Amino acid sequence: MQDIFPIRKIDHIHHYVNNARQSAYYYQHVFGFNITGYRGLETGSRDQVDYLLEQGDIKIVFSAPIRPGHPMASKICEHGDFVQDIVFDVDDVDWAYKAALGRGAQSAYEPKTIEDDNGSVRMAGIKLYGDTIHSLMNRDKFKGHFLPNFRRENQPGDGIGIMEIDHCVGNVELGKMNFWVKWYEDVLGFRNMISFDDKDISTEFTSLMSKVMTSGNGRVKFPINEPAAGKKKSQIDEYLEFFGGPGVQHVALRTDDIIHTVSRLQARGLEFLMAPRSYYDMLPDRVGKIDEDIEELAALGILVDRDDEGYLLQIFSKPVTDRPTLFYEIIHRKGAKSFGKGNFKALFEAIEREQALRGTL
Ligand code: FE2
Repeated sequence: MQDIFPIRKIDHIHHYVNNARQSAYYYQHVFGFNITGYRGLETGSRDQVDYLLEQGDIKIVFSAPIRPGHPMASKICEHGDFVQDIVFDVDDVDWAYKAALGRGAQSAYEPKTIEDDNGSVRMAGIKLYGDTIHSLMNRDKFKGHFLPNFRRENQPGDGIGIMEIDHCVGNVELGKMNFWVKWYEDVLGFRNMISFDDKDISTEFTSLMSKVMTSGNGRVKFPINEPAAGKKKSQIDEYLEFFGGPGVQHVALRTDDIIHTVSRLQARGLEFLMAPRSYYDMLPDRVGKIDEDIEELAALGILVDRDDEGYLLQIFSKPVTDRPTLFYEIIHRKGAKSFGKGNFKALFEAIEREQALRGTL
């Protein structure tokens, strides 16, 4: 099949936050990212600061306004700290932007060139759900570090073995999932690789629907969730209420040693949703033989699921922000290309226990 919108990869995930210095410190000390770039007053940026963090192929940027009345501040005021931009690396920014608009995308910002002595970077942006956007970026003509006017930093973190972004999930309003599925198909040439309905993902109280969209080259995967009617408020409804609309719900980071990665994260204070003991008692029957020791998985709360091609191990953190919005998944794939359907029920019961504690179930 022809790829109508070639995307090389996710270049980086851009967060708007209240205090970029402290966010960078948290991600450095908990997730083990290296702080590798900085832009701020010292480098000539008069209105905002930006920190670049890296680990494996993962790049994340935290930006914060440093003056009253900055437009970024009103967005942070509304949503709290949030993922504002999932940036794509593309061959030709101008072509991609024009093609996207021609297929129904709305402009977030027009193509622009940013430059310094090391060359230039071309960027444009298209609107996604809510205040989220996709920037389209090409830095083939840039020889410097990350983006123009970034100063190289060397503040290493103690890495935890995460290598790349496996997928990035959006929560949208009731009835909007298919709109965004079609948007990804029409505008970016993605295809729907897996669908889950409320029979797959439901508990006694809540349910949701989800469709996984994947790019032409298969390297970029975006599941999209919408709430489904249940007896009580679903976690998606809770997100939409506290976030103030649709947005990025979780980012899954891939490791090839999940026990090491999760042990490190737990030792540094990241909290995870824990499956009940009964989950592990049922595990051998559900997934068959696996390499890992079940007691070790149970102690850490790691979940396992199997599909036709192999199995995967995964775990979900509690929200990393004050609001019950953004969280992380750690995923270790051993052949499986799916998303842990068999874990949803066990997992959602764990999420609902948390929601009940927050009084939002
Ligand atoms: Fe996920």
